[in-house]
Amino acid sequence: APLRASVTTRVVPKAKSVAQILPEASYKVAVLGAAGGIGQPLGLLIKMSPLVSELRLYDIANVKGVAADLSHCNTPSQVMDFTGPAELANCLKGVDVVVIPAGVPRKPGMTRDDLFNINAGIVKSLIEAVADNCPDAFIHIISNPVNSTVPIAAEILKQKGVYNPKKLFGVSTLDVVRANTFVAQKKDLKLIDVDVPVVGGHAGITILPLLSKTRPSVTFTDEETEELTKRIQNAGTEVVEAKAGAGSATLSMAYAAARFVESSLRALAGDPDVYECTYVQSELTELPFFASRVKIGKNGVESIISSDLEGVTDYEAKALEALKPELKASIEKGIEFAHKKQ
Ligand code: NAD
Ligand code: LMR
Repeated sequence: APLRASVTTRVVPKAKSVAQILPEASYKVAVLGAAGGIGQPLGLLIKMSPLVSELRLYDIANVKGVAADLSHCNTPSQVMDFTGPAELANCLKGVDVVVIPAGVPRKPGMTRDDLFNINAGIVKSLIEAVADNCPDAFIHIISNPVNSTVPIAAEILKQKGVYNPKKLFGVSTLDVVRANTFVAQKKDLKLIDVDVPVVGGHAGITILPLLSKTRPSVTFTDEETEELTKRIQNAGTEVVEAKAGAGSATLSMAYAAARFVESSLRALAGDPDVYECTYVQSELTELPFFASRVKIGKNGVESIISSDLEGVTDYEAKALEALKPELKASIEKGIEFAHKKQ
């Protein structure tokens, strides 16, 4: 299978490639949590996309100013603002892609799972609205803990009778972005060429970069593998600690989320060559959700790429087994929450 996704994905595609894919901007994208640390730069990057006709911004507060500000950029999309639950349905009707970065971020000393109690309820209520108003949209979940919030979303969509596993994505793109950056730096490679698949989930040891599958082919010593794997797994915490209480990754996350939005739009537009790592319903392992490279097409996930898990190193095979209990527990926690009478 072709392996071009991370190499060819651009936030601002070249005019020629856009013209080949799609003659005009025609997609509607909603961002829920649009006034937040991720939401604002993500709105800006989506506003720069020539594929977008409407950018719908939703938050519980402060979204009017963000929308007014973004609306002055002379790019094709129209910017619309929606504040509070009463305006959520109108925000969602007719959208092609819904991106959800709503929820609280970590502070130093916290795990992503420590966010569960607040963010699970936020994701649940937003997904109920998605189910009622745009059940056919691609849904991108950024809110942490992603390992649990995606299973919550799946259960809520099932309860509403509209679950399509091909269109529900946990956004783990930032792990790939980080892996590509750190590997290119370590091995002195041209960044644009580097593509590291990252599988598993999106928290601590559940983030598993398959360094042996790096493209172009690179060799790593055991020490390099250990050091790079740990750095990629702890990269979120690296940012949380550097921000010292002021939140977690927002700018690199917006960049990663914009890349995933653009890949989704290219897939919707008929590009036959869209591959991204993402946390989805999966049969790759015994776990019901698992992040891996997938091929994305007009109808969402077209296939899950299994070859990355074949012929992995002993280090990776052990790390894969080691992550399963934690990921399984996070998935079960999400499912249980969605089934609880609130
Ligand atoms: P933030 O606090 O800066 O922004 C969150 C926004 O969500 C705020 O504007 C808030 O008003 C809004 N919000 C809260 N409840 C809402 C609701 N019910 N409906 C709509 N909006 C609501 O936080 P942030 O830094 O933007 O991070 C947001 C989330 O993304 C956190 O959970 C964080 O852990 C997660 N995150 C995930 C990744 C990833 O790789 N998947 C990376 C970075 C951050
Ligand atoms: C990240 O990986 O940066 C995010 O999941 C935010 C966090 O809490 O680390």
